[in-house]
Amino acid sequence: MSPRVVLVGPMGAGKSTVAALLAERLGVTARDTDADVEAAEGRSVSDIFVDSGEARFRELERDAVAAALASHDGVLALGGGAVLDERTRSLLAGHPVVFLRVGLSEAVKRVGLGAGRPLLLGNVRARVKALLDERAPIYESVATAVVDTDDATPAEVADRVEAAL
Ligand code: S3P
Repeated sequence: MSPRVVLVGPMGAGKSTVAALLAERLGVTARDTDADVEAAEGRSVSDIFVDSGEARFRELERDAVAAALASHDGVLALGGGAVLDERTRSLLAGHPVVFLRVGLSEAVKRVGLGAGRPLLLGNVRARVKALLDERAPIYESVATAVVDTDDATPAEVADRVEAAL
């Protein structure tokens, strides 16, 4: 069993929203690794970062990605930083992976004050910029297709993902 599509990209790219829309269209279910980690741990992503640290979160996230890739045949949205982990990246080989690209202004607008996103605390714009700059090449390296999201509604992004499959 393997997901129909795996969505990667930064916070504010619309991964969870587009995953839900796309799943509805394809008649499958959407799954989100952040939600899987929270369910497995019984605590929020923010609490895991604060109490156990980012490195521990990345391990839990890798386990969630591996489990979802093996058992989910719908649409799978990964947390924005999942691709930072080399072992998580290697799990993606052979799967259809779409990078939902977003520019700085649009990402900042969409994440708002960064509530529930521990990596954005402090100066949201500066943090988003640093993360986008650092990670864009990584998303590109794992993706089999890239979809721009800046100028599009979630439904239009879902159209573009479907066209890329
Ligand atoms: C993170 C993105 C978040 C969540 C965690 C870390 C990141 O997921 O996994 O706060 O490193 O970019 P979303 O991209 O779904 O917000």
